[in-house]
Amino acid sequence: MTESRLVAPQEEPEDVQVARTLRPGSLDECIGQDKVREHLRIAITAAKQREEPLDHTLFHGPPGLGKTTFANVLATEMGVNIKVTAGPAIERPGDLAAILSNVRPHDILFIDEVHRLHRAVEEILYPAMEDFALDIVMGKGMAARSIRLALPQFTLIGATTRLALMSSPLRDRFGAHFHMEYYDAGAMRQIVARSARILDVPIDREGVNEIAQRSRGTPRITNRLLRRTRDWAQVKGDGRITAALAEDCLASLEIDGLGLDAVDRTILLTIFEKFGGGPVGIDTLAAAIGDEAQTIEDVYEPYLMQLGFLAKTPRGRVTLAAAGAHLGIEVEEPADGGQPRLFE
Ligand SMILES: Nc1ncnc2c1ncn2[C@@H]1O[C@H](COP(=O)(O)OP(=O)(O)OP(=O)(O)O)[C@@H](O)[C@H]1O
Ligand SMILES: [Mg+2]
Repeated sequence: MTESRLVAPQEEPEDVQVARTLRPGSLDECIGQDKVREHLRIAITAAKQREEPLDHTLFHGPPGLGKTTFANVLATEMGVNIKVTAGPAIERPGDLAAILSNVRPHDILFIDEVHRLHRAVEEILYPAMEDFALDIVMGKGMAARSIRLALPQFTLIGATTRLALMSSPLRDRFGAHFHMEYYDAGAMRQIVARSARILDVPIDREGVNEIAQRSRGTPRITNRLLRRTRDWAQVKGDGRITAALAEDCLASLEIDGLGLDAVDRTILLTIFEKFGGGPVGIDTLAAAIGDEAQTIEDVYEPYLMQLGFLAKTPRGRVTLAAAGAHLGIEVEEPADGGQPRLFE
């Protein structure tokens, strides 16, 4: 179900080809994430002045917000090579050793999904990050001995959507941590306008607003919705994207004014109608809508919570009054008049 979702934040095959044209190439081209950008700019300037590599850097946050983009931008701004891999792709300690023995001074090794590194691989990474050293065990049993090889000073950049699943020794070895936030309305509008400029599609200000509003604070979704509306404008209109055209196109794709799709609405409606607004346990909810609990937690909930439509309480999920208002459902206020207690 999630694979074909237009508003899925994860990377889909259709995103890959445009990523090259739409992905910002420098820090100046990146929009939003002001705090992250400011810290990165300082880190880059300082590292260059000292002629040192950047600190090991960890980006965490929901999919599609720019973790991979910022990793690449760091390499460009530092003028160094970037080697890209992913946690699950490094199967054995030897694979990591092979990668590390090929890095050049100040190069960046980017490990995506860094929370999925195998434990044995992680252990090789600790001395590599801390001391720029590779400990290799030669031989077996009594005859085994460890030799230590020096590595060039490199920068490890890790990215993860699941910070909580990272082991703390690994987390602690990153000198800089950046949490990527959902983009605010102003940044989203700038991203739509920038992408439209690059794709060379005429769009008016209301058209920009319409797409920005439905993009769930996520640039990857913006770019996807923009491409769909561009096709629609070309085939059904005169090639220009106006508010009316964008609304038409996105409504036909069942994406509402806040970017919720049919599955999001089903989740909210199910909690309202079958469970009286909750609380309902995640497994019960998953069974009721026929999806996996993990998918609901990772893919659907974050944005619904961000909107203030859904909350986690100690006894399960509850829908909030704002969700009722959006869906046009009358909601009884909680008896104590307050919001449900948030559950960390
Ligand atoms: N700050 C930004 N300004 C403009 N566009 C951006 C920005 N950040 C990301 N994008 C756009 O969003 C797309 C998705 O970003 P990116 O691939 O970096 O996300 P990610 O956080 O690595 O996602 P995932 O967790 O799925 O790997 C990029 O291809 C780029 O076009
Ligand atoms: Mg990425």
